[in-house]
Amino acid sequence: MSPDAADGDTRLWGGRFEDGPAPALDRINRSLPVDWRLWPFELAVDRAWIRELCEAGVVTADTRDHILAGLDAVQARLESGDPAREPDEDVHTLVERWLADEVGEDASQVRIGRSRNDVVATDTRLWTLEACRRVNSAVRDLQEAMIESAGRGVDVAFPAYTHLQRAQPTTAAHWLLSHFWPLVRARDRLEDARARVARLPLGAAAGTGSTVPMDRDRLSGALGFDGPCENSLDAVGSRDWVAEVLFAWTQLAGDLSRLAEDLVIYASAEFGLVRLSDAFSTGSSLMPQKRNPDGAELARARGGTLLGLLAGYLASLKGLPTGYSKDLQEDKRTLFAAEEAVIETLAVLAGTIGTLEFDQSRARDAISPEMLAADVAERLAAEGVPFRTAHEAIGLLVRQAETEDRSLSEYSGEESAAVHPALGALRPEWWDVGSALQRRSVQGGSAPTAVRVQLDRARDGLKG
Ligand code: ARG
Repeated sequence: MSPDAADGDTRLWGGRFEDGPAPALDRINRSLPVDWRLWPFELAVDRAWIRELCEAGVVTADTRDHILAGLDAVQARLESGDPAREPDEDVHTLVERWLADEVGEDASQVRIGRSRNDVVATDTRLWTLEACRRVNSAVRDLQEAMIESAGRGVDVAFPAYTHLQRAQPTTAAHWLLSHFWPLVRARDRLEDARARVARLPLGAAAGTGSTVPMDRDRLSGALGFDGPCENSLDAVGSRDWVAEVLFAWTQLAGDLSRLAEDLVIYASAEFGLVRLSDAFSTGSSLMPQKRNPDGAELARARGGTLLGLLAGYLASLKGLPTGYSKDLQEDKRTLFAAEEAVIETLAVLAGTIGTLEFDQSRARDAISPEMLAADVAERLAAEGVPFRTAHEAIGLLVRQAETEDRSLSEYSGEESAAVHPALGALRPEWWDVGSALQRRSVQGGSAPTAVRVQLDRARDGLKG
């Protein structure tokens, strides 16, 4: 079979083969249905490369300009066309074929001194840098929604849980902001990974380094990288930077799944602490009364989706021999799926949080007096009762109240003292939730005063 596109064969490597690939091989090998998304970066690489070839004296200025004009035409065709449906093996083959439609024989000149191995790693790094920027800005949108919503919950008393059992009082804003700070760390993590993504593979060619003597520092600057990779074999054969970004997204998705789980639970009739807006609730086809948190549930599931993508990808990297192997092609399928999953999750949570309402009275009712038992024990200790005795005495009172089915706050001084003499010092106002909250004014604590400071710090952090 001829390697000529006009004969229906679009391969860049047909020369040494008598026959084309079997359909089963073509099916698994062809990456265009996935990697067509790389075309803007492929064009950027082609443009930078042809300029360097000209600087190195490998092609004339006329050829360079001819190709640059051809690439502009290819770009217009890519923008208005449907590249995913073309018959080519991959995005590199498609772009060169369309370039040949524009400039004829000159098209293949752009391939001198490079390989798809260094080109695809370069394209993918460029895509990843942009994807990280998209994720970063979607995280920021969610953080803004949280800040706005938390602003409405600074004075809303809210139950806090340990082991998902009622534990102590907090505020709605403090709960919501507990999900804000992991997002700050997620953005830091992505920013930190960026430095390792922003290294240029181009110039590594198939793996041993290009035969064209070119200035890789200049090439790196032209494409927006921080500098070239130090070793050409490493440049084409390593994808640890993909795994690192996938981890950053996976940790983020895991953090988001915890927020999503809180939303699902807190919006249930049993808890009733929050209400999801109509726009972020769904109905049931059978049960007309249902108001389902589908968005939050899917956000919860995506934590697992991301984890699976990361684990699968890490496994596919393990044990690969030095240099490029086709296994590496799977990076794009994984990255694209992961980015889509994480961006959709961030968007649905931003909308859900931005329109979230706190049910103040249900939240207040969920703070039962036992949740102040530790506070009361601490107050007794401050009055001079050894803490161990105070803890035990309150424990006895809790047991008594349970047996008598009464609220702790109903016990008079004498009744309490009858349960344990140390409780003689107990004062009824110690069971007040508002004052229990105010006492948590330590930096980072639940008191409205402390939460206002926290909210300001959260806002300041977003300004940068
Ligand atoms: N589609 C390939 C990938 O994504 C491009 C590199 C192909 N290299 C090769 N030697 N066949 O990794």
